[in-house]
Amino acid sequence: MKLLVCGGAGFIGSNFVRQRAGEHGDEVVVLDKLTYAGRRENLADVPHTFVHGGIEDAAAVAQAMEGVDAVVNFAAETHVDRSIAEPDAFVTTHAVGTFVLLEAARERGLRYLQVSTDEVYGSIAEGSFTEESPLEPSSPYSATKTGADLLVQSYTRTFGMETVICRGSNNYGPYQYPEKLIPLMVLNALHGDPLPVYGDGMQVRNWLYVTDFCAGIGHVLAHGAAGEVYNVGGPDECPNIEVVRRIIALTGADASLLTYVEDRPGHDRRYSLGSEKVRALGWEAQVRFEEGLERTVAWYRDNPGWWEPIRSGAYREYYERQYGSSLG
Ligand code: NAD
Ligand code: DAU
Repeated sequence: MKLLVCGGAGFIGSNFVRQRAGEHGDEVVVLDKLTYAGRRENLADVPHTFVHGGIEDAAAVAQAMEGVDAVVNFAAETHVDRSIAEPDAFVTTHAVGTFVLLEAARERGLRYLQVSTDEVYGSIAEGSFTEESPLEPSSPYSATKTGADLLVQSYTRTFGMETVICRGSNNYGPYQYPEKLIPLMVLNALHGDPLPVYGDGMQVRNWLYVTDFCAGIGHVLAHGAAGEVYNVGGPDECPNIEVVRRIIALTGADASLLTYVEDRPGHDRRYSLGSEKVRALGWEAQVRFEEGLERTVAWYRDNPGWWEPIRSGAYREYYERQYGSSLG
């Protein structure tokens, strides 16, 4: 199979390309704009063809789609805090970019998988979201992802195009950019820097090891029914404060680094994703949170060559803007 993977130089995309080009022996073309979050280094050990460009750029999309059998779209702006500070790129990539990709895939009769998120459902106090739960996004990130999902579904309903949507819960694992909770806390803990916990730290996330999400996407790509949505949720839920305490224990950091800071506006309290539908396709999560977190801490500890250039670059400026006053 020849796959076009959009956003394949990012965290989940690069893990997916590694799985497909490795275990599955697929031929993979990666289309990626290389924003701050995308890095060619993430794919250094993986055979692929690379096209540099945005999914909103029809010429780059046409070049990348040459001869492919299916499209998997990971390309996105993915950080909720950045969507609050600067939402512009979220609208362009999620709305315009998804539209350009859909048009090009429709013209060529290609199967199309949209990678989406549990955040489209908003927050749930008890129980778990199903694919039928109402869409109630809270942030510009999740609202624009929701818009993209609806556009994708309209291409099946209106044009009979073969689309599927995969909604994942919070991913963690190797190659995640350190703006996100787990890699941020691991690197800060290793450096003896403060560990900034938003609000009371009792927000709950449903943790999914990245290779499990990639396998779920593979199942849906192969067996998902056109026009359908499939949730792919992690096996464990954990409040943020407990995640940070576990990271302190695994890194041997000083517990006094833990620092409560101002809460995120519109902060969703809890995510929990029911995955019965994708289980019926034969998928099952393989990695429990305790084991996945140990592996993740070990990966960051063993790969300073991956994160040192990030921490010394534009990330510093982002970090100062986001946390400067609260950690000063
Ligand atoms: P990431 O930020 O690590 O990577 C995003 C990638 O997309 C980068 O390589 C970036 O360069 C590229 N990109 C951004 N805008 C682009 C554009 N306009 N055109 C082409 N490429 C562009 O993100 P991630 O965490 O790997 O997330 C990948 C996908 O999975 C996203 O669609 C996200 O919404 C979804 N998702 C993420 C999680 C999570 O916990 N990280 C959970 C569920 C779903
Ligand atoms: O649920 C899936 C989503 O998970 C994906 O769609 C998003 O792309 C991905 O970024 C992630 O969103 P979250 O907002 O849940 O992830 P983040 O790592 O930003 O935050 C996780 C939790 O930790 C959240 O409750 C906010 C909190 N947090 C985060 C940071 C960065 C802190 O308390 N302190 C922090 O410094």
